[in-house]
Amino acid sequence: MRRLRRTPLIRELVREVRLDRSDLIQPIFVEESLKTDAPITSMPGQRRQSPATVLREVARLVDKGVKSIILFGIPTVKDEIGSAAYEPNGVVQKTIRDLKDQFVDELVVFTDACMCQYTSHGHCGLVRDARIDNDETLQKLAEVAVSHARAGADIVAPSAMIDGQVKTIRQALDDNGFKDVAVMAYAAKHASSFFGPFREAAFSAPQFGDRRTYQMDYSNPEEALREIALDIKEGADMIMVKPALAYLDIIYRAKKRFQMPTAAYNVSGEFSMIKAAAREGWIDEKSAIMEVLTSIKRAGADMILTYHALEAAEWLG
Ligand code: PBG
Ligand code: ZN
Repeated sequence: MRRLRRTPLIRELVREVRLDRSDLIQPIFVEESLKTDAPITSMPGQRRQSPATVLREVARLVDKGVKSIILFGIPTVKDEIGSAAYEPNGVVQKTIRDLKDQFVDELVVFTDACMCQYTSHGHCGLVRDARIDNDETLQKLAEVAVSHARAGADIVAPSAMIDGQVKTIRQALDDNGFKDVAVMAYAAKHASSFFGPFREAAFSAPQFGDRRTYQMDYSNPEEALREIALDIKEGADMIMVKPALAYLDIIYRAKKRFQMPTAAYNVSGEFSMIKAAAREGWIDEKSAIMEVLTSIKRAGADMILTYHALEAAEWLG
């Protein structure tokens, strides 16, 4: 076996899985009240963008060959019903319009359709008697998705793990004239401790309880496949598994079974672990990142949502 490992050129010839810049989707936080960008302490190197600086940040990404982003908004005002999530002039809606003006055909804009950054209680839907009301939340998520589509989003990504969200959103998009807007389902999103840094970044930690009544139990791989099957039936154009690294088995099985465009979300905690170990000098940052991203592709992901997108794109050239 070693004959084909002898030189870099031979290794490249026989390489089976290749990471490409076009596989990468960079998550972007836009905070309405910021005048300029601000560092995210829990995610070294990542910054919350202001409505003004986000254009420059995306220009940098596009220039490096990262042509897909997913937007997360941080509103100035939160309320019980997450009104700022579906306002025509909300921070995400405005940002989509600005981006679409500036990067006409050069950029794919994904949006996260959820409510947790916008609700005062920090849960992903409407709360009644300290519980998330599934069916009432559906209507709100449809409003979020349509408002994103109206602003110019290419692909909306429902992430609330509310049953029926893909079907309701698909229907609402169609009814409002957005038949061409695609849906990427956060199909198998697990209740995970690896979302910690994100919640600090987006001020979206739940104020009571946790998300285990709607996000998946990581002990249930068969259920993950049923979740994905349902979302496909409901009209998802792409599916996603989240997180990625502790879930490579789910990615592998999902791709094999459904043969759908499959995304994996290399989440905040996975990002920050590498950064922390690299800072301590315990691992080599660049090679660890490339190993992780390639492994996610090897498991079967076609695309990766990752905070490493910009740095990886620079290395991939
Ligand atoms: C919102 C949402 C979360 C993430 C993406 N969309 C947080 C959560 O569910 O608590 C996490 C992403 C990350 O950790 O990088 N529902
Ligand atoms: Zn949420």
